[in-house]
Amino acid sequence: MRTYQRPTQTLRAAEGDAESAIVQVALRPRERGNASGRVASGDMPSAEPWWKSAVIYQIYPRSFCDTNADGVGDLEGIRSHLDHLELLGVDAVWISPFFTSPMKDYGYDVADYCDVDPLFGDLDDFDRLVADAHGRNIKVLIDWVPNHSSDLHPWFVESRSSRDNPKADWYWWRDADPDDPMKPPNNWVAAFTGGPAWTWDETRQQWYLHNFLAEQPDLNWRNPEVVAAMHDTLRFWLDRGVDGFRMDVVHLIGKTEDLPDGRVDDEGRVYSAHDYDGTHGMLRDIRVLMDSYDGDRMMVGEVYILSTKRVAKYYGDNDELHLSFNFPPLHAPWESSAWRRRIDRVIEELDPRNAWPSWVISNHDNPRHRTRYGSEAKARAAAMLLLTLRGTPFLFAGEELGLEDAVIPPERVLDPGGRDGCRAPIPWTEDDSHGWGVADPWLPWPPDAGGRSAAAQEGDDASVLALYRRVVEARRASPALQVGDFTWLSAPDEVLAYERTRDGDRRVVLVNQSGTLQGVETAAAGLAVEVTSDGAHFDGRTLAPWQAVLLR
Ligand code: NOJ
Repeated sequence: MRTYQRPTQTLRAAEGDAESAIVQVALRPRERGNASGRVASGDMPSAEPWWKSAVIYQIYPRSFCDTNADGVGDLEGIRSHLDHLELLGVDAVWISPFFTSPMKDYGYDVADYCDVDPLFGDLDDFDRLVADAHGRNIKVLIDWVPNHSSDLHPWFVESRSSRDNPKADWYWWRDADPDDPMKPPNNWVAAFTGGPAWTWDETRQQWYLHNFLAEQPDLNWRNPEVVAAMHDTLRFWLDRGVDGFRMDVVHLIGKTEDLPDGRVDDEGRVYSAHDYDGTHGMLRDIRVLMDSYDGDRMMVGEVYILSTKRVAKYYGDNDELHLSFNFPPLHAPWESSAWRRRIDRVIEELDPRNAWPSWVISNHDNPRHRTRYGSEAKARAAAMLLLTLRGTPFLFAGEELGLEDAVIPPERVLDPGGRDGCRAPIPWTEDDSHGWGVADPWLPWPPDAGGRSAAAQEGDDASVLALYRRVVEARRASPALQVGDFTWLSAPDEVLAYERTRDGDRRVVLVNQSGTLQGVETAAAGLAVEVTSDGAHFDGRTLAPWQAVLLR
């Protein structure tokens, strides 16, 4: 059974986020199978860049909406649901890869950085999508995959053709050890397979490096020609009008020439940090490129290092990433002590750098938070937390419908990393094909697809969709929620209680992360209820189990 393992990475003990708790391990394999009216950028205080106050919505294009009846979502499918995004109130979309690809990693194996895979449409469709999104004041971020290409990218085809072709050094090639020719050049472990991060190439009679699948060879960013070519791919899309990029495993690009072994523990696990100093200079160069364009183009890095302290470095001195994902909160259980620590770590590490946080609890690589937390009540409270913390929230398409992961029968498993469940198609309508071109798309529908569909929830004031719209709207109307300061308030241990303030605007948020009633009279004193996570009454004194409230 193949499993999803990322390249060795830094994990923190679940107990805390203190640096002493860092352990670096290869991730445990995951089992396969189951797994209104709108105002431009709200009333954001004008001095701040748009992405600070924005709500950003991730679209996994295969799963969003299919308009040509091939069972796979497409760019037109995204364009056909811009109404939904506008009503939801999001400021930007991040679209996961739609580039030419053999789809071994469902688009994260790019064979042409500057074209659309026919499965999703073409460049005209993309241009139309950007124009229409911009017409609605929705910005467009796209995914950029700098660490590796597809093995079918012409660069790699050429690189592997001989040892002396012009692109011979565009990827990481190493000779065999004469004493042990079967031994890979170092002990790194590839994501997904858990096997060596090296594959032997018969033509070159050399090994090549791939931190992910063998079909995803790592580009050699130490070669200035690679840097220039990859910069050109950024320019291609910036010239086409994109507002920025989500940068895939961007911390991996600055490898050292010697590619040292990772440390191995007594149980044979490999510990290698993949946190290279060289990456920072590369990011600074990319930042200069981004800043040479008008209009606050931005980049958010997928820095998959589970240490907030290390992630913070990738903001540089306001000259590297604009935003970085910080995954320890995504991996935290729905418990107040765990969340309080994760939030404190963000404050401790990011504030001194003047670095702006981001928050994410669901994406295309992990079970949805509705599934992880195990109940709709908790998922609703989590939405309130996500959208009211200090920083930029990222929503994953479908979480606003309260979707759970699909149950994937063994014969329908596709992803080499066991991530199919969270990638189930979005149900738009209640009928059998749920607004798709076919009734049985590339992956099974999520549970209760009809009842959870956008159409079923439309007009239902008690729906999860209505809750998301309400909180996003409250956020857009409040400078405090968008860009204000954050201060903890005193409350029972099981309750996250905080205020957000900006220029006389103030909001208070109380999140009960327990299944019992919690008294919060002091924190709530004198305030009016703006939103409750469950739509139920809040008397100003007692939070219901798993209830969250936004007060003003
Ligand atoms: C991180 C992406 O989020 C994931 O989906 C992908 O498989 C790997 N990077 C490799 O590109």
